[in-house]
Amino acid sequence: MQKVLITAGASGIGYALAETFYAADYKVWIIDVSEKDLKKCPKDWEQSNIDVCDENAMAALFKKINDKWAGLDVLCANAGVAGSTALIEDQDAEAFRKCLNVNLIGAFLSVKGSLPIMKKQKKGTIIFTSSTAGLNGFPYRSPYSSSKWGIHGFMKTLAMEAGPFGIRANAIAPGCVEGARIDAVIEKEAAKKKTTSDVIREAYKSGTSLKTFVNAEDIASMALFLASEQASRISGQVIAVDGHTENPDPKI
Ligand SMILES: NC(=O)c1ccc[n+]([C@@H]2O[C@H](COP(=O)([O-])OP(=O)(O)OC[C@H]3O[C@@H](n4cnc5c(N)ncnc54)[C@H](O)[C@@H]3O)[C@@H](O)[C@H]2O)c1
Repeated sequence: MQKVLITAGASGIGYALAETFYAADYKVWIIDVSEKDLKKCPKDWEQSNIDVCDENAMAALFKKINDKWAGLDVLCANAGVAGSTALIEDQDAEAFRKCLNVNLIGAFLSVKGSLPIMKKQKKGTIIFTSSTAGLNGFPYRSPYSSSKWGIHGFMKTLAMEAGPFGIRANAIAPGCVEGARIDAVIEKEAAKKKTTSDVIREAYKSGTSLKTFVNAEDIASMALFLASEQASRISGQVIAVDGHTENPDPKI
């Protein structure tokens, strides 16, 4: 049985990833900072209540995975926070740092722990959940956009370093994903721009060719494909699942 580790797997996109890999007969291990959300997850998924930026806890996690599973086929480095919504001159340095810490350092620690296991078995797939904010600029969201551009540089470097060991690395860049998180992001942006959430939502939709948001399941299907044999020659790529963002900053 193949084995997948998913960071931030207790809700949102991470939960959809866990459900999809589990349905495809993978052994699933999720980590999440929310004990409350973990409690709602199926008991036959391995679970660890860990903050992805906690270096010691992450090192202990990989020791545990190695002891219990003696291998790891897929890492979904999915954890990421939205960061603060403000013009650059109004951004708080500590909040900026926090966003980079979860989104970038958290992904780094996840990869750092997975690599020795994957290198030993001479195979593995690493899939980052990035964002179209890592392909375009994103007014009011500079910490988030910076972190996702950072993920792409990290992913491409990883693909080059680990490729000779049979390890592939790719990033999925979702557009707006239906759910509580994008609702909160839209509300904050509407408040900053002194308009309504409906106006912001429609503007985002109108900025895509398919005039749509996407679902967590769309992201999970792409991840399952990237982990599969059919994708065995795909590495170092950023693949958008976003209905095609043709205008990343539709004017309100
Ligand atoms: N929701 C969207 O519209 C959207 C769009 C593009 C990209 N993304 C990216 O997708 C990924 C998942 O997003 P989501 O919308 O499912 O997120 P979410 O905000 O719904 O959170 C999902 C889970 O992350 C956990 N989490 C948060 N910080 C953590 C940490 N430090 N350590 C461990 N777990 C932590 C939360 O407890 C929660 O259970 C993120 O990297 C995000 O940037 C989301």
